[in-house]
Amino acid sequence: VSTSCIGKSLCSWHALLLPCLFVPFRLPCPPRPQAADISIERCATNKPKPDPSTLVFGKQFSDHMLTICWSEKGGWEAPQIKPFQNLSLHPASSALHYSIELFEGMKAFRGVDNHIRLFRPMLNMERMHRSADRSCLPLFDKGELLECIRKLVEVDQEWVPYSQDASLYIRPTFIGIEPSLGVSRAGKAMIFVIVGPVGPYFATGSFNPVSLLADPSFVRAWRGGVGAYKMGGNYGPTIAVQNEAVKKGCQQVLWLYGEQEEITEVGTMNLFIYWTNEKGEKELVTPPLDGIILPGVTRQSLLDLARSWDEFKVTERTMGMKELMSALDAGRILEVFGAGTACVVCPVGSLLYKGKTHQIPTMQNGPDLAKRFYKELTDIQVSSPNNAAAS
Ligand SMILES: Cc1ncc(COP(=O)(O)O)c(C=O)c1O
Repeated sequence: VSTSCIGKSLCSWHALLLPCLFVPFRLPCPPRPQAADISIERCATNKPKPDPSTLVFGKQFSDHMLTICWSEKGGWEAPQIKPFQNLSLHPASSALHYSIELFEGMKAFRGVDNHIRLFRPMLNMERMHRSADRSCLPLFDKGELLECIRKLVEVDQEWVPYSQDASLYIRPTFIGIEPSLGVSRAGKAMIFVIVGPVGPYFATGSFNPVSLLADPSFVRAWRGGVGAYKMGGNYGPTIAVQNEAVKKGCQQVLWLYGEQEEITEVGTMNLFIYWTNEKGEKELVTPPLDGIILPGVTRQSLLDLARSWDEFKVTERTMGMKELMSALDAGRILEVFGAGTACVVCPVGSLLYKGKTHQIPTMQNGPDLAKRFYKELTDIQVSSPNNAAAS
């Protein structure tokens, strides 16, 4: 998004629950799934909604789910919205053996006008489509899938918390269900989408900095690998490293890569560094999308916002630990923060690197920029005067 059209672009972020977001079909497979074919079976009784102040991430689910099945022979079947239930899978399903699985994470917000909106959901659909392509899972029409998700959120709209601090988390998932132990392309697959209310990442009023373990012996993703895709297989192996960080008194992992110890991501967030560069200019730096970085929706949104402000330099480039450490020693690091759907922005307060803890002055510097991003993005998510009639 260029600076010149950022105003238009920001408005279009709001136009998210419009019923007619179909993109022209351009893939060499049947134009399915078709949202118009969706069947809806409602629950006889709805579960009681949890108190928004007690929400724990990923533990509460709504009353309904969306499933869409595909087979090589029959193509995409009609999408179904049905009561939330267990899946019945053949034990040889390829998702269970070879991690032929990918997912997305996005949120629906109840705005100050009581309308429900998703935040830039087409970016999630595009990322999901790329992940499907890389997983040899069947391609789908992004606009049609988004419309199916919109219908699920509409059916479960009472699950979107009546609170500006909480939201409805949406988890689209795509699995290979070929009942065969051969390591090959899945001839059967299923998209399913579950949703559930989630609370704020930070308790109201606080903006707590996290401590990071930066240990180059652990690698999240590598060039030529699949770190740029949201595949389940990228996440399971990180749990042991996260546990290692906790054992060492840190909260999250700063993922490094290669001989230069390139700074890549933090936990499951993209990383931003706001600093005074060697030329004395204020600059916001984030690693480039070179194959080892997940192209975050929040990352893209912060870059779009910062470029639209045009107040400091915005650069997508690689930075190594050596450069970060010397800038830190020289007092040129202003703020370091992660960015992702869960928290929007998450300040970094310290770094444990080669046995030594280095303080990062993010909080001492406000953090002015992280707070500004947080306010700007959350304002967009919950208030949309441009599109009050969208839902
Ligand atoms: C590895 C990784 N990086 C970054 C992100 C942030 O992406 P987004 O802003 O789309 O939530 C996520 C979360 O999805 C992630 O898992």
